Amino acid sequence: MSGSEADRRIPNQHARTRSRMSIDEKTSKTLKDLGAKSPEAIGELFAGVTSALESERKALIASGAGDERERSQKVKDLRDRWLARKGGLVSLIDENWLKKAPKELKPAVGRAFNQLRQLAKCVDTESLLRELSGGAAAAQPAAVAATRGARPSAKQGRLDLTLPGYRQPLGSIHPVTQVMREIEDIFLGLGFSIESGPEIESVYYNFDALNIPESHPARDDWDTLYVNSETVLRTHTSPVQIRAMEKHGAPLYILCPGKAYRHDNPDSTHATMFHQVEGLAVDTDISFADLKGTLDYFARKFFGDKIKTNFTPSFFPFTEPSGELSISCVFCGGGGCRICKDSGWIEVMGCGMVHPEVLRHGGIDPERYSGWAFGLGVERFAMMKYDINDIQLFHQGDVRFLEQF
Ligand code: PHE
Repeated sequence: MSGSEADRRIPNQHARTRSRMSIDEKTSKTLKDLGAKSPEAIGELFAGVTSALESERKALIASGAGDERERSQKVKDLRDRWLARKGGLVSLIDENWLKKAPKELKPAVGRAFNQLRQLAKCVDTESLLRELSGGAAAAQPAAVAATRGARPSAKQGRLDLTLPGYRQPLGSIHPVTQVMREIEDIFLGLGFSIESGPEIESVYYNFDALNIPESHPARDDWDTLYVNSETVLRTHTSPVQIRAMEKHGAPLYILCPGKAYRHDNPDSTHATMFHQVEGLAVDTDISFADLKGTLDYFARKFFGDKIKTNFTPSFFPFTEPSGELSISCVFCGGGGCRICKDSGWIEVMGCGMVHPEVLRHGGIDPERYSGWAFGLGVERFAMMKYDINDIQLFHQGDVRFLEQF
């Protein structure tokens, strides 16, 4: 026999001897006595212990354990055999295998020992009694039985696989986002593209560039939440008009959805934060007729073909002429009701022809180009579309409200 063959045989011999020993014999010896020198050999040893644990537990349960007294005696015996502090198999393994293990094998033995300790919970008194009264569930492997004890749903120790699982509620798209996307889709279909700008905006873009100088009374209408003397939370999405003109020049067809902030007292139609969609078209030969035609098309696409539109004069410093678009009341069809205050019309957005000064601030020559713009409140559109009477509902995050969309 060559040296290398002999080397190969020795562990095999040990393995054979080991497997012939009873579990009680094995646990009274050290790993060295058992010839277990490698993590594999240790794995094998612990596997033997686990299967002994498992078969002893199954045997007890299969026996049905007779009457009350016999049952509690058998349960106690098995529990003590494995879990008794003094002389229990788990303690012996701790003493003889883990504590006396050579340094290099300690981690492997420690890991295996911890697993065993977990698994051995299946022979504590409580688990065994539960198993014995659980009938069919007794067939489950030890690992399942051991973890099951912790579950509140394990009524009478039985795992009821017919119980429904935990429901993970699905979220939905916020109604404001839904309406915003719907508006975007209509304008994307007309060849517009989407722009965005900062919500913390400079006073210049929010006011001055839009033809609202500091001295102008119109500034009061939008007077707002200042971060410092040069910075505000934007009061409307109109500053994006200037930013887009500076960035892309003309011709320009953009839509800007986003948040706006105002120093308003909250009530059923006002909120300090709300959403707007801004529209801007700049090209050669753009007229008020283009504005009317486009917004009429948009209103009918959004609210339905029966809707009629009406333009009334208004004032915005950044448009000239300025207008207000109204639609025939979606609630009464134009006959007059409480919501349209008996007028038959509801104002839905501000609009107008871009002021030449604003084009100039955006770096576009007002002699060559003209444009129109509009700005609408998204919450207001959503309120009309879904018949919602309080704007605050959108921002409270109440699932009972949100899950309806
Ligand atoms: N920015 C205006 C507002 O917030 C709306 C508007 C936009 C009006 C564009 C005209 C043109 O009320």
